[in-house]
Amino acid sequence: MARTRFAAVLAATCAALATASFYDASYSAPAQMCDKYVELGYNELSASCQNAVACSGLLNATSLADCEAKCDAQAAAAPGTGEAACVGVDTGPRGNGNWGCYLKSRCDGKPGRCSGSWCGYRREGVVPPSPTPPAPPVPPSPPGVTLRQAAASHGVFIGTATNAGYLADPADPKYKLVEQAQFDLVTAENACKVGPIHPERDTYDWKGCDSVFDAAEMANQTVRGHNLCWHTQNPSWLTNGNFTAPELVAILEEHITTVVGRYGTRAYCWDVVNEAFDNNGLKTSPPWYPAVPDYIDVAFKAARKVGGAKVKLFYNDYSADAVNSKSDAIFKYVQGMVQRGIPIDGVGLQFHWSLANHDTLESVASNMARLDKLGLEVHITELDIKCTPKGSGKPCTPQLLNAQAKLYADILRTCLDAPNCKSFEVWGFTDRHTWIGTASAPLLFDADYNPKPAAFALINELLNTTATRV
Ligand code: XIL
Repeated sequence: MARTRFAAVLAATCAALATASFYDASYSAPAQMCDKYVELGYNELSASCQNAVACSGLLNATSLADCEAKCDAQAAAAPGTGEAACVGVDTGPRGNGNWGCYLKSRCDGKPGRCSGSWCGYRREGVVPPSPTPPAPPVPPSPPGVTLRQAAASHGVFIGTATNAGYLADPADPKYKLVEQAQFDLVTAENACKVGPIHPERDTYDWKGCDSVFDAAEMANQTVRGHNLCWHTQNPSWLTNGNFTAPELVAILEEHITTVVGRYGTRAYCWDVVNEAFDNNGLKTSPPWYPAVPDYIDVAFKAARKVGGAKVKLFYNDYSADAVNSKSDAIFKYVQGMVQRGIPIDGVGLQFHWSLANHDTLESVASNMARLDKLGLEVHITELDIKCTPKGSGKPCTPQLLNAQAKLYADILRTCLDAPNCKSFEVWGFTDRHTWIGTASAPLLFDADYNPKPAAFALINELLNTTATRV
């Protein structure tokens, strides 16, 4: 690109986009670029994106080195733009060595239009992220020691989501064996949700949910109930019923009274309401909100009334593990519940994480601590860590497996260091069966049920800690 044209583009861009995070001359919606990358699962790009204020356009680079050299040349040609950073290079299978074309073609929604790399310029004064040293290999944990054995003396649950179908599948016997040997707490992945359990207004189908409770009791496992009220996985009679607000209140109370009443203290706790917030507060959650503005209070009161104090009541959500605007909104709301005397015992932090882009553990610890000050427990409820971004086609290399193991252990340590963190639970345990997809290898055991470095790291962490709690 000619220097004059580039300089003009850059000047216009900088003036127009003082706060924009990423820009390319050929894009008309620059502010959305980073969001788009993240949405597509290319989370690893966001750190660079966040530091970039302007972009030169296509570089037609043929390699990372070429891209970087061209970025440097352009930065030198545009004084004051800061250090150059090559953004969006990709070595994935569809990149064909044509750096960046895969991302470009995905981002502009025109498959096949592959042409060159992206170049971003870091904001003046912003320190480029230093490359993280590779995580060291994880030593295997002592032979024969399971996760639940290692956790036993610490008073913290080590749990997994479990799937009623796989538990009962004679063709896949290892599923049940590993699940029962390794974990002392389980949650039905789907079987106790409103849709499966309450298929008609006047009919309950307990088969799947009962089977999870029965199997758990046989294996001396605790059950964490999930969930009693959500905007998704609802039966069609409820979704399409056009009910009035008083009818919805009656339905919610009836469902909760029936389900919590049936299982009583066989359930250690329930996620009473699931995923009700966005960054701004309560979000539209049909059929409950906005139709029934106080539906959360209604649900928790009904659960306590029938379950008594021994069944713990949780609010559960995702992307609210650390301090951020969504967890602020949740914090404010549960603080209000405590003040109003609405029965709530804790907050479930889902922890659907990705190796390439995640919150800091310091911020997670702060979030746990502020909930502790309210007298609330926290549970890590649905942890999984994408080793590679969804759809990237990239393999989960031994180095990435070690990094994944370290992150699992860091999250566990953060929980063990927080006195109110009482349960550490993964959302599935084998990469064979995960809602994230086997290719992202997010869990503790591989698709053949062999322990991954992450499983060793958790056992080692548990064996090395003296943390205990009641
Ligand atoms: C997921 C299950 O894992 C999938 O099998 C199902 O198809 C969709 O729901 N947050 C939750 C869980 O609270 O209930 C979701 O479970 C994952 C996100």
